[in-house]
Amino acid sequence: MSAALPAGLRERLRVARPFLLTALAASLGAGLVAAAIAHAPTRPLVWMVAYLILVAGVAQGVLGLGQALLPPRPPAARRCIMEWLLFNGGNAGVIAGTLLASPALVALGTALFVAALAAFLLGVRGAGGGWLLQLFRAMLMVTGLGACVGLALTLAGLAR
Ligand code: HEM
Repeated sequence: MSAALPAGLRERLRVARPFLLTALAASLGAGLVAAAIAHAPTRPLVWMVAYLILVAGVAQGVLGLGQALLPPRPPAARRCIMEWLLFNGGNAGVIAGTLLASPALVALGTALFVAALAAFLLGVRGAGGGWLLQLFRAMLMVTGLGACVGLALTLAGLAR
């Protein structure tokens, strides 16, 4: 099927692939955890399921695909690897920090995550416009705000 795609689009989808595959894996993992804990859900685990779907799944898919399709030229593979590491290293830190009740780990994860968002913002410089760019920017804003609120809740100990 990919042979039928124009070479330019194939190259763009190739750089989006790590983000899309990770988003799929996170959503599958979330579904499995939800099924496993359904008989006795706990607040941190239900939060983790939501986080995996919304942030590691939907947001990662939109940002990875948006950055691959929006700029005049597809991003370099090295840039995507750096973003993938920041974004998913951040997710791992936020999740582990929340489950282990370690505010320092949540703060470290949030810092990596926000650095990834900044890299994604720079990654679409020169994009023309349109609904996908609006969706991309909205996703950066919502997740950026969510990260700040989540860190504030953690530091204030209000979420428990
Ligand atoms: C996508 C948009 C987001 C929404 C709508 C959202 C919403 C929420 C809500 C409602 C809570 C309170 C949960 C509770 O009562 O236990 C929460 C907690 C939290 N969120 Fe988010 N959030 C978002 C994104 C993020 C992001 C991007 C991060 C980090 C990078 C983050 C980190 C956290 C953390 C660490 C907590 C505290 C969990 C706990 O200690 O129980 N959130 N979020």
